[in-house]
Amino acid sequence: MPGHEWMGELEKEQIGEVLETGVLFRYEFETERKGVYKVREFEEKFARYNGAVYAHAVSSGSAALRVALAALDVGHGDEVVTQGFTFIATYEAIIEAGAVPVPAEIDDTLNMDPADFEKKITDRTKAVIPVHMLGSPARIQEIIEIARKRNIKILEDTAQAVGAAVGGKKLGTWGDMGAYSFDFYKTITTGEGGMVVTNDRDLYIRASEYADHGHDHNPNVGRALEGRNFLGFNYRMMELQGALGVAQLSKVDEMILRQKQNQSMIRETLESIDGITMRALPEDGKDSYTHICFYLPDAEKALAFQKRLAQDGVNAVYFKNNFWHYLANWQHFIEKKTAWTHPHPLGGPISGGDIRYSSEMLPKTDALLARALVMPVPLQMDEERIRQMVMALQSTAEEVL
Ligand SMILES: Cc1ncc(COP(=O)(O)O)c(C=O)c1O
Repeated sequence: MPGHEWMGELEKEQIGEVLETGVLFRYEFETERKGVYKVREFEEKFARYNGAVYAHAVSSGSAALRVALAALDVGHGDEVVTQGFTFIATYEAIIEAGAVPVPAEIDDTLNMDPADFEKKITDRTKAVIPVHMLGSPARIQEIIEIARKRNIKILEDTAQAVGAAVGGKKLGTWGDMGAYSFDFYKTITTGEGGMVVTNDRDLYIRASEYADHGHDHNPNVGRALEGRNFLGFNYRMMELQGALGVAQLSKVDEMILRQKQNQSMIRETLESIDGITMRALPEDGKDSYTHICFYLPDAEKALAFQKRLAQDGVNAVYFKNNFWHYLANWQHFIEKKTAWTHPHPLGGPISGGDIRYSSEMLPKTDALLARALVMPVPLQMDEERIRQMVMALQSTAEEVL
């Protein structure tokens, strides 16, 4: 969430460079653009920041997932395992690819439960999408070990976790591909925007082609004469977004550090309260400090804690009841309501027909979310606000626990 809280001179400077050339399109116009290629610069810097070999920028995090699935050759008849606690874009991207989303449970990291992922594998499982929710890592090494044994592709949904890592390796670079979002609520923002990263040259080329109507980006001919190896679509990022990305990326470590500092007293307070357990972090895991997540002993206490905190002006989200991020509350998805009133060209709105979704299909996820509260951590927090929050937590704990 910090990106939009820290917009200023750097962003204006970067955008100014683009406006001076007047070229908003990321490709071509070599003479007019006078060497300014902001999307390309953002890609190069983003790849370096994450320790990835390749990065390709797209129009949103949802687009990044869709483009990555195309690059990974996920399509009609394939199943993709993902978790029930995520943003619905993860599911929509799978459905847009013509594949079948298969929900898995989460564990105490609030991310994919590796053991349940393994249980959900069938002969049709082509890929797995672990999602690093709320800035914190999944047990990615275990997930990768299971997937590799079965030749299953790994796409990390890192939309919410730019800058987080496991064992010093950034999230999004553990699997075959990583997808990121730069929408308005994310750690760094370009308004709307996304990125795919990979270390595999073929996957990178396929992603960059799919995101641009199949263009092969042959440097020796003009755009009109470029070859097209396959059909794609338009998921391109434009230069103004690239400029914002360059500016925001240069501040990302500072943003994460400030949030870590903002969190530290609040976290210490929570850790000292009997009856509160913090969200689990995998061994060697590094958070990006956008949120603080903790568990209460049961659902009743969690709701009472949330209500009492709100009286002191402190917001904590109860994700079990959240309509955006929990499958059990996506009635339109459960009922397989797509925009198509006729059979989907790929063989049914959600192919595979026999899969049934329901609000009760993820009992472990339900039990964990029922006890969990999540506090967003803004970048701009003064000491007074932090003190208020600490006091609110202490008095709430005294009354409720
Ligand atoms: C986990 C997750 N995946 C994908 C997305 C989609 O990103 P965008 O909003 O940029 O399309 C989001 C956005 O909130 C997200 O939280």
